[in-house]
Amino acid sequence: MGKDVIIACDFDSAEKTFAFLDRFEGLDRKPFVKIGMELYYAEGPSIVKEIKRRGHKIFLDLKLHDIPNTVKKSMAVLSRLDVDMTNLHAGGTIPMMEAALEGLTRPDGTRPILIAVTQLTSTDQEHMTKDLLIDHPVADVVMHYASNAKTAGLDGVVCSPLEAGKVHERCGADFVTVTPGVRFADGDKGDQKRVMTPAEAKKIGSDYIVVGRPITAAEDPVAAYNRCVAEFVD
Ligand code: C5P
Repeated sequence: MGKDVIIACDFDSAEKTFAFLDRFEGLDRKPFVKIGMELYYAEGPSIVKEIKRRGHKIFLDLKLHDIPNTVKKSMAVLSRLDVDMTNLHAGGTIPMMEAALEGLTRPDGTRPILIAVTQLTSTDQEHMTKDLLIDHPVADVVMHYASNAKTAGLDGVVCSPLEAGKVHERCGADFVTVTPGVRFADGDKGDQKRVMTPAEAKKIGSDYIVVGRPITAAEDPVAAYNRCVAEFVD
């Protein structure tokens, strides 16, 4: 699996997104871009098509979770948008994940990479136990959901860089780990609690790092992106 740096384009309009992406025009390496709910709900499919037209790879981070039939049909629509990676909640169970894969697969057999969110990092033990009535340790639940994703035939999971090594141990070296929570050693952590530098994420075996504010809020976003690539990919 090719290692890459994915920039989280967490903007609320096409205007802001393109003002940001314009800075990267002419660079040898086209950044892989993550479009999340905020931007997709603001601008719809046209933002995906335009970013694709500019030659970027796209991770469409919409975290689907619904009955299998609805997820299957929705994934077929996303697949036609020609994204490179998309995701869902493993909590939708194995039949939902299998249906998603079916919907995502194009008539020629190709499909975007499909990864699962296990438990959101915002869900702590207390809320998992009290609100969801899941009384296993969070770490075990994360690994179990990763294993379910593998059983359903998915390509990998979103996880903290700290979990990437264990996920590979349990689900195999080819099982893709996409890890947010990345910060430069001399940078601001923001609201992320458990963070790693791009170099550490590389060492621990992450396949893709998702980096937002360390690049989008940097004085020189292109330099910050190049630094991520130098630490993580090169
Ligand atoms: O700005 P920052 O680098 O913290 O952005 C990280 C990106 O990864 C955001 O788009 C955030 O929503 C996403 N993410 C995360 N933690 C997760 C799952 C996704 O930070 N557990």
